[in-house]
Amino acid sequence: MLASQTPGGSNVALPSSEEAFAKALHPLLRQKCAECHGVAQRPLFAVLDPVKAHTTLTEHQLVNLNDVSNSAIVQKVRIGHNGLDPGLGYLIEDGILLWAGQLNPGRDVTRPTTFIMEPKANAVITGTVLIQAVASDNVGVTGVQLILDGTALEKIEAKTPPFAWPWDTSKATPGIHTLATRARDAAGNWGFSPVVTVTIEAQAAGPDTVAPTVSVTSPQVNAVLTGVTNLVASASDNVGVVGVQFILDGVNFGAEDTTAPFSVSLDTKTLTNGNHTVSAKARDAAGNSTTSVVVNFSVNNPVPTATFAWISQNIFGPKCVSCHNATTHYNNVDLSSYSKVMSTGSVVAGSPSTSKMVIEINSGAMPKAGTKLTPAEVGAVSTWIQNGAPN
Ligand code: HEC
Ligand code: HEC
Repeated sequence: MLASQTPGGSNVALPSSEEAFAKALHPLLRQKCAECHGVAQRPLFAVLDPVKAHTTLTEHQLVNLNDVSNSAIVQKVRIGHNGLDPGLGYLIEDGILLWAGQLNPGRDVTRPTTFIMEPKANAVITGTVLIQAVASDNVGVTGVQLILDGTALEKIEAKTPPFAWPWDTSKATPGIHTLATRARDAAGNWGFSPVVTVTIEAQAAGPDTVAPTVSVTSPQVNAVLTGVTNLVASASDNVGVVGVQFILDGVNFGAEDTTAPFSVSLDTKTLTNGNHTVSAKARDAAGNSTTSVVVNFSVNNPVPTATFAWISQNIFGPKCVSCHNATTHYNNVDLSSYSKVMSTGSVVAGSPSTSKMVIEINSGAMPKAGTKLTPAEVGAVSTWIQNGAPN
């Protein structure tokens, strides 16, 4: 037995290291480690005889009474040993502290307590978050360290409150991370916080600010158009083009085309002969849009003249004869020659208003299929009949 002077002045017998160990730690080691380290697994620090167990611990330097947390048996268990709960490391640490405290009654054997206040457990976080912890101790906290994914960040120990660390999560990998703190006191006792698990959300991609590119590929610049043609545009976008609207002579033309290839049909006879412009406006889902360079073109359709030759060549031939010829002649109307046209009864020379021909084309009933006649074409037929329907 050793003796020491207490502050009160009376001599108190201190236990031996073996005796202190037998009370403070041996029962725990017997309970948790003896299965292996009390039977056959060396080092045999959990055998039934506490003196022998004590000898093994000290010979193998498995315990450090001055720097308790760094004791080998604490460290070994805390990293997860043979399926043992890592939390058992703290119980062993407490046992060693108790042991050290019995040898030195003045020793502070209370470890600090610490908790992470922010972020909360299971929080989903982005950007920069402020990690905030609290810590307290019976004597005083001398420092708090952050433990990120199991590694103590010793270099950024906070010595005084507030115990807080900004964390730029954009620099960490998205996914699950663990946070904990450890606080120490002047006696070198460490207290650990419960682990907080957080999820760093993948940084959302910035808003799409890139507008599509678009150009009119048909007609070509200064093209001369007749009849029915397609306006065609080519458009692309970093994300995707959701629609192309053609603009004819400064006015939206047709419906927006939502699928590539982007095109719309144009009957140039609905336009005046002469110069026109076309452009195309493409937009993406984010609302960015671009209008193409304007393409100049001209229309040069045959001008209706009120003669049988012109009407036959430009109207009857292309638009009527497929259904009104020598073989197929609906309602006995054959429009393949002047004599046949005049023998149908649908033309009353000098009287457009009573001519079935004019009535049919004026109402749009004829041609029964295909492109309707333009007002100018109807006018040409009407004038030709008005003039006596000459050959
Ligand atoms: C199921 C069997 C088993 C249990 C239970 C067990 N250990 Fe072990 N221990 C081993 C084995 C096997 C080794 C050697 C391999 C290794 O180091 O992991 C070992 C090694 C060790 C070492 C390393 C010794 C050295 O000299 O480096 C320490 C320290 C240790 N154990 C501590 C403990 C403590 C403390 C407990 C109880 C809380 C414990 N073990 C419970 C099987 C066990
Ligand atoms: C796709 C076939 C088709 C085409 C093209 C067509 N027709 Fe017809 N047409 C018909 C049919 C069928 C009838 C019979 C009446 C009906 O079904 O409406 C008819 C009847 C007529 C009649 C007689 C109407 C009556 O009441 O007796 C006239 C006149 C006529 N067509 C003029 C024209 C002219 C002019 C054109 C060209 C600008 C034309 N058709 C193009 C199919 C056609």
